[in-house]
Amino acid sequence: MDLKTELQKRIEEIESVIVGYLPEEAGYQKTVIEAMNYSVLAGGKRIRPMLMQETYRLFGGTGNIVEPFMCALEMIHTYSLVHDDLPAMDNDEYRRGKKTTHAVYGETMGILAGDGLLNYAFEVVSSAFDIECSENVAKAMQILAKKAGIYGMIGGQVADIESENKSVGIETIEFIHKMKTGALIESAMLIGAVLAGATDEDMQKIEQIATDIGVAFQIQDDILDLTSTTEVLGKPVGSDEKNHKSTYVSLKGLEQSKKDVEYLSNRALDTLASLPGENAFLEELIRMLIVREK
Ligand code: IPE
Ligand code: IPE
Ligand code: MG
Ligand code: MG
Ligand code: MG
Repeated sequence: MDLKTELQKRIEEIESVIVGYLPEEAGYQKTVIEAMNYSVLAGGKRIRPMLMQETYRLFGGTGNIVEPFMCALEMIHTYSLVHDDLPAMDNDEYRRGKKTTHAVYGETMGILAGDGLLNYAFEVVSSAFDIECSENVAKAMQILAKKAGIYGMIGGQVADIESENKSVGIETIEFIHKMKTGALIESAMLIGAVLAGATDEDMQKIEQIATDIGVAFQIQDDILDLTSTTEVLGKPVGSDEKNHKSTYVSLKGLEQSKKDVEYLSNRALDTLASLPGENAFLEELIRMLIVREK
């Protein structure tokens, strides 16, 4: 399998699905809609919708019920980035190789564009009931709401901000990683699984796999913040140091952090192998995340 070609194909498919759901830039609210669409269309790896679709396929899913959820999750992820970059949070000027939303549209519109994306995501997922009115669709909505909220991504962002300018222990960093980044990745894979009708037992394994991938993903993000360049990443390097954040790397060191990314990713692959069904692309994708450079 040529992973690069396969990845590109999927990114294009995902982006065409997203474009189909974006709001029209019209009316008195045109500016905020432009800011929303600017941030969503700025690029990005589209890892979360990809993991959702591939998990759906792993469990034999073939329909389009997953599409509004893929789109909504990317909108929620994008809103989390728009707000994460605000002056009151990480105060960063570049994202996905472009100026951040608040840098282009102003801080107020940045806040509102984030709010707009979060709410619009739920407008999009509620349209899933027009495709299929089932208990699994309702469960998928519940997963999305919970993992994006105070018991998920937002909870992690709170602990991240409250840990600035102090030295925190590895348990705190692990909590932050599991929540601020793991939670949305968990929602991606859990929603793919539930929409395809996975059993409760398989859902538990999927959650473990996704937690490992999510934590590894954030450790790698912390590594790249230290070792990469703005050109490659499309966002500023050194953001964590600038904000006096304790990171996985500052606590465990670069070499151990790299080893831990590999360990967690391999554990995810082992758990994946214990599930019925097979998805060679999903396996390759998880392997690729260990060595990702952006
Ligand atoms: C960035 O996520 C924020 C983290 C959770 C580390 P991604 O690295 O997936 O960002 P995009 O979507 O590709 O821009
Ligand atoms: C943010 O983590 C995770 C979110 C929930 C947005 P970071 O602050 O490390 O993400 P980047 O490095 O700005 O993408
Ligand atoms: Mg942050
Ligand atoms: Mg940040
Ligand atoms: Mg980071």
